[in-house]
This record gives sequence, structure tokens and C-alpha cells, in this order.
Amino acid sequence: MQVFGVDIGGTGIKGAPVDIDEGTLAAPRIRVPTPQPSLPGAIAKTVADVVDHFGWTGPVGATFPAVLKDGIAKTAANVDPSWVDTDLAATLGAVLPGGVTVINDADAAGIAEMTFGAGRDVGGVVLMTTFGTGIGTALFLHGQLLANTEFGHLEIGGSAAEASASEAAREREDLSWEKWAKRVSRYLSALEALLWPDLIIIGGGASRKADRFLDRLEIRTKVVPAQLQNNAGIVGAALFAAGDQARPKAPARAPRRRPPATRPPGGRRP
Ligand code: BGC
Repeated sequence: MQVFGVDIGGTGIKGAPVDIDEGTLAAPRIRVPTPQPSLPGAIAKTVADVVDHFGWTGPVGATFPAVLKDGIAKTAANVDPSWVDTDLAATLGAVLPGGVTVINDADAAGIAEMTFGAGRDVGGVVLMTTFGTGIGTALFLHGQLLANTEFGHLEIGGSAAEASASEAAREREDLSWEKWAKRVSRYLSALEALLWPDLIIIGGGASRKADRFLDRLEIRTKVVPAQLQNNAGIVGAALFAAGDQARPKAPARAPRRRPPATRPPGGRRP
């Protein structure tokens, strides 16, 4: 079965039809620059153009780089501030007659990695991170997503981590891989101390260059690159739209605790 996935980012909007049984793109994706200013109407038009490019009229899953509550954007760190309290689902729904489902971009990438990629069959606490224009995070316990974590905004050295450790910051400041890896290590160590994850997956634009920095990270937790790399958002958006997030592929389960033995009144076991 195919569902269309669109990944809306602060700098680019990418889309492709997705084979949701395989977790792969059913056609090569297209990417267009995010309109600037990234106003709701302009983004909706660009998303419609991306979907139209494929002649797609069916259901669409779309990511967005913000906290989303009931389809409404609650933050706007890397998009126009007018998005705050804008109904993203309704804005996109107006131009996508086949129906649209929306989800935070990092949450979508995490769902894709937990279903088909680096987090497949991994239980315990898994932290997905995406290093791009900002830093996105998605937290899973035994395959179950805790949506809308915003750990990219954790304050490190007096400012939000994403201001200094995102992929965009590396490019903007022309940092060496070594220097950037130091910042990422500091950030991930802070998260590690708070969450004690069993696995950290590194995704986003930076995941394509994992060989340049992964070995330089100095943290205790096992770190792996995202396997779906930069397509994780598109695939996750489509999976979420298909309702697949409710049934992740056989994640490891927490061992069931036995209920405590109950004693009959009087205190003696029968
Ligand atoms: C946003 C998150 C988003 C992340 C990655 C952050 O600035 O607050 O919602 O997931 O960027 O795009």
C-alpha cells in the first residue's frame, strides 16, 4: 500500500509516495526550498505543488518542525512565528483533498527508524535525534512514542542546544567535524544524564555524513546513524498517516510484572 509522505523543514520541503509495507520510497523524492517567509499559505501551496508533481490524489502524511497538538502548531522555532496556534491540519487539508495527517518531524523520523531502521526490534528507551536546521528529538519506550519532546531546546551553556549543535550551526560557523562533534557530545551527554537511554539514533541531514563524526562522539550510550537517513521523515509521515504508528513492528516488550500475591483476610494463604 502507498501513502504520500511530505517532510516540511525550515529550509526544504521533500515529498514522495511511500510503500508503507516496505518502508521505502515508491518513486524518487523531490525537494523544493521552503518559501521565505515561511507563511502558512505559502507553505500549503508548496506542499500542494510537491504532491501534484506526482499526480497524487490520495491520503498524505506531513511532518512539521514544531510541537503539534490536535493538528495545531504550538511553537515555531524554525518557521515563521505566525504559525503559532495555526491549524496546520486544516491549512494543509484545504489544499489536499485526499486528506492529510500531521506529525512533528522528529517524531515521524523516529517512527520510521523504529519500524524499519536502526531502532527496529529495539526495546527499552530509544532516543531519536535529528540534526538539521534545528535539533529534533523523539523518545520511545519499548517502541511506544512519547510525542512532542523538544530536547533540541535544552539549554546548554546559556542557550538552546540547537543554536550551537545543529547541522545548520556547523555549516553557519564553518566548524570542523572535531569541533562540532565536541558540541554534539556535550549536548548528548546532558540528555544521557537526564534520560539514560539504551540507544541513541542520529538522523537528519547530518546522518549522511555519520562517518565523519560518529567515532568522535564521547558519550556512554550506544549511538548509531539513522538507516533511512534523510528519508526517515517522509517515510514516518506516511506510516503515521496510515495508522501504522499504533502497531510498531514487533518491538521488544517490557517483562510483565507478576501481580503481588494477595492474602485472604486473616493473613493466611489458602
Ligand atoms: C523544533 C522541533 C523540531 C526540530 C527539528 C526544533 O526547533 O522546535 O519541533 O522537531 O526543530 O526540526
